[in-house]
Amino acid sequence: MRDPNAPPIRLLMVEDNPGDARLVRALLAEAGGFELSCAETMAQARDWLADNAADAVLLDLSLPDSHGLETIDRMRGLAPLAPVVVFTGLADEDVGVAAVKRGCQDYLVKGVGDGHLISRTVLYAIERKALEVERQQSAERMKKVLLQTVRAMSLTLEMRDPYTAGHQRRVANLAVAIGRAMGWSEHTLEGLQTGALIHDLGKINVPSDFLSRPGKLSDAAFGVVKSHAAVGAEIVDGIDFPWPVADMIRQHHERLDGSGYPLGLAGDAIIPEARVLAVADVVEAISSHRPYRPALGMDVALAEIRDHRGSRYDPQAVECCEKVIALEGEAVFGVAALGG
Ligand SMILES: [Fe+2]
Repeated sequence: MRDPNAPPIRLLMVEDNPGDARLVRALLAEAGGFELSCAETMAQARDWLADNAADAVLLDLSLPDSHGLETIDRMRGLAPLAPVVVFTGLADEDVGVAAVKRGCQDYLVKGVGDGHLISRTVLYAIERKALEVERQQSAERMKKVLLQTVRAMSLTLEMRDPYTAGHQRRVANLAVAIGRAMGWSEHTLEGLQTGALIHDLGKINVPSDFLSRPGKLSDAAFGVVKSHAAVGAEIVDGIDFPWPVADMIRQHHERLDGSGYPLGLAGDAIIPEARVLAVADVVEAISSHRPYRPALGMDVALAEIRDHRGSRYDPQAVECCEKVIALEGEAVFGVAALGG
């Protein structure tokens, strides 16, 4: 039961048939609790919404200036937070179901039911929309916190190993640019960014002396450095990421022809994200300064991936990497690729 002291619900009815509009107005007056405003066209609704807020919208789908399900999209564009209840005729109840699938909260069949039914439908629509918005906001908040946590993990490693400070972030930005050029979805790109930001996490287990020592490492020391791929994967293995982050980390030093490590995987046995990550990692590493050598520059980096395109590196990833570097230059390393 609605609190009788609650402020009236501001309801916008968009209906071009004066008879239907009159009937709803009379029924709602009987039910009480509504402050009803009416528009006969989408244009009138737009003007009204420019100056007023609606708690809910009752929407006829065939208006003089808008028809069918497109009317819903236009209304959602005008009032994204307002729940929408669609009016349908008796003959086209299917349209009501389609409208709900399209994001409306409910539908009413014209001429069926009384003011209480309309009132209850609108109230439930408001509740449903509020829950939907709350769920969406909480999912976005969690996503942001996850990214911030991953960034903090990334920084933890880089604070210990200042010679590679910024490496993972720069690799992440390039990898996402490559993935985007390959046409990957935003969800896949978010996963790629996550894996890239912590792809060297396992180096936390490698003595920092090994990482910053100039000159060639002994086989034994290099063996320890190489363990970082498996160790990093092991660290995140227990996290239920919605992406194959552990495999991205485990496989980022694998090479298409099986010459990489730790497992010597080849071809499709390496997941696509790890193949892109390998290209971004190598290009960033070669083009930047390392403790054991000065920066070799972008030309050397691009020559490495071009020379081993199809043997060590995924041909499409190489192609897209060349494309984004040609387009953006080294600025591609610094662009915050995805928000949060
Ligand atoms: Fe690595």
